[in-house]
Amino acid sequence: MDALEITGGIALHGDVQISGAKNATLPILAAALLAEEPVSIGNVPHLNDVTTTIALLARMGVEVSMHDGMRLEVDAAGVHDFTAPYELVKTMRASVLVLGPLLGRYGRADVSLPGGCAIGARPVNIHVAGLKAMGAQVEIDGGYIRARGSQLRGARIVLDTVSVTGTENLMMAAVLARGETVIENAAREPEVADLAGFLVAMGANIEGAGTDTIHIQGVERLGAADYRVMPDRIETGTYLVAGAITGGRVRARGTRPDTLDAVLAKLTEAGARIECGEDWIELDMEGQRPSAVDLTTAPYPAFPTDMQAQFCALNAIADGSGAITETIFENRFQHVLEMQRMGADFRIQGHTAFSRGVPALKGAPVMATDLRASASLVLAALVARGTTRVERIYHIDRGYECIEEKLRRLGASIRRIQV
Ligand code: UD1
Repeated sequence: MDALEITGGIALHGDVQISGAKNATLPILAAALLAEEPVSIGNVPHLNDVTTTIALLARMGVEVSMHDGMRLEVDAAGVHDFTAPYELVKTMRASVLVLGPLLGRYGRADVSLPGGCAIGARPVNIHVAGLKAMGAQVEIDGGYIRARGSQLRGARIVLDTVSVTGTENLMMAAVLARGETVIENAAREPEVADLAGFLVAMGANIEGAGTDTIHIQGVERLGAADYRVMPDRIETGTYLVAGAITGGRVRARGTRPDTLDAVLAKLTEAGARIECGEDWIELDMEGQRPSAVDLTTAPYPAFPTDMQAQFCALNAIADGSGAITETIFENRFQHVLEMQRMGADFRIQGHTAFSRGVPALKGAPVMATDLRASASLVLAALVARGTTRVERIYHIDRGYECIEEKLRRLGASIRRIQV
């Protein structure tokens, strides 16, 4: 199994090129199931979750080919299987994203229930309730969501909780439904808007994606499209924290500053100087230790849960006391326990991680428990004295393209080893 070995204490300096967004690529690939003609998708990141999605689509009869390293041509003409099996869904919960498009275009989908997840229960009731409102019959049978409905009809759907993939699944089911669908209390994440951009490029009629009310007029068919995936705002934020935590200066290139307002506000509060251009963000910590911040995660445009672990790493070494409250997932502080093994001073009470920053962490063997947790341990290792070995980094390869190359180019001492 691969591990990362990191020797901390080096301030990071330089430029980092941001990859396409994982959380936009996955729904966009699933949406390709809806097209009657081949589609072309650019800026696709090399990630294990993308490979898993391609494997899932290929199993269904979709032809996927790669061009120039980051462009995928996807042809869904030959789909003959409508199942997302447990073996794939258990490794990547986002497999549930095929539910909406399969049902919307082919009238049937059998998608394994994702089961337990390291960061909490993560149910699918919102996806199921919305599809039922559109006229689908949905049963849970043998661990599978079995959905049937030859012609979905538009409906007004009010989401119980703001769900990102729930909004995406319902939007994808609605594009070929008869009549109008209105999704209220929709997720406003930029990735939802990016998916809508792709659906519109294929011929869908969608308004309001990126706001909390999305209107979709069903169309007869969707066709060819050529689309470029948006940049990854969580990867961007992670590298900016890497700059902040090490007292360095990092410029993230090829990104979208407008998608990171809440994160940039907290980095500024931590003492960083932030400058933005149209597609870049520069963070300069000017050699200073960051100040601790208080924050609460919430749906976009508030502070993202996917940046919570990275800010725990920042607070671990920051000057002062901080409080980080997680409101989206109930069990998302395992990284804090690992950081404590590196000398961090945290107290978890309810959904809040209270920290008292220590001047330095100390290298130790630690274990990644989920994707963002593993990124936070890498960040902690970058400032720890001595060497840290981060194990189980298959989690990190799900969501960060070439993390060790990118960090090494910024000056970090990091290498991948086999353990
Ligand atoms: C997506 C992101 C993930 C991010 C999360 C929250 C993708 C592929 N993944 O995950 O990186 O951490 O948004 O920003 O885009 N919920 C229900 N019932 C449902 C669905 C969700 O109660 O049917 C609850 C969840 O338990 C959670 C909250 O809603 O408490 C938000 O989850 P959701 O937005 O659905 O997360 P994902 O879409 O799985």
